[in-house]
Amino acid sequence: MIELRDVQYVRIGTKDLNKAEAFAIDTLGLNVVGRTPDRLYLRSDYRHHCICYVRGEPTDQVVGFELKNWRGLDKALDALKAIGVECGRGTPEEAKDRFVHAFIWFKDPTGNRFEIVVRPYEANRPYVPPRQTGITGFGHVGMNTTDPERDQNFWLDNFNAQVSDWIGPAPLLRIKNVHHQMALFPTRGPGIQHVNHQVGTIDDLLRYFFYLTNKGIRIVFGPGRHATSGGYFLYFEGLDGLTYEFSTSDRNIIEDPENYRPRQFALEDESFCVIGAKPDIKEFKAA
Ligand SMILES: [Fe+2]
Repeated sequence: MIELRDVQYVRIGTKDLNKAEAFAIDTLGLNVVGRTPDRLYLRSDYRHHCICYVRGEPTDQVVGFELKNWRGLDKALDALKAIGVECGRGTPEEAKDRFVHAFIWFKDPTGNRFEIVVRPYEANRPYVPPRQTGITGFGHVGMNTTDPERDQNFWLDNFNAQVSDWIGPAPLLRIKNVHHQMALFPTRGPGIQHVNHQVGTIDDLLRYFFYLTNKGIRIVFGPGRHATSGGYFLYFEGLDGLTYEFSTSDRNIIEDPENYRPRQFALEDESFCVIGAKPDIKEFKAA
């Protein structure tokens, strides 16, 4: 059993880092903490960075998790090798590029690349919002899956992941006592389906809604409220067409995880939003 603490970062390819920097500051409201010719590191909380844009193809996407036991990386790699997934250890240069002490990588059955890190660098300066964003931190990722049941079982069997709820076939998974850190949405191939940041209040969400709308950014879902986590949300189209989300779902702590009963919700618009917003996101619709 590989025990993960939390999602640590995403690495997302893009061909234009200047455009990425403008998007990160003006649209997302993050802090730039590092820029090289090939990298852009962005901060939103206690993590050194939560997003790293990497010069490359937008389909080059990686999600990093922190391992609970900082001494357990070899054992985790052995466990991944034992189940026969494609995996390996990052080089010291690659670890330096990620601002972590060391890491291993693997691919899930869909082909998504994940990394497991130890001793990730802590922010030594706080996140300072460039405007009133209300961002409280990096929240979770939605991932593509070509077989939600297979990939769900991959996470349940080999990691400390638990199902919090399902919407149709899509599981919302947690590795800590907050409703979800990862959700798996059925689609055709690997990739990140959405990147979530948390905001403090509904006012923060609505402020983003008006701010983004005034900038002409396409809102793809919301403002609304999830039936599952109870969080208020807003999804919009971001850099290179990737969906980004702001939500308040981290307020929804699972108080008694031992006795928590995962709930099955129908694959209907109302399961994604209880106050009437309709998703313009293909993975959120019935096939
Ligand atoms: Fe989400």
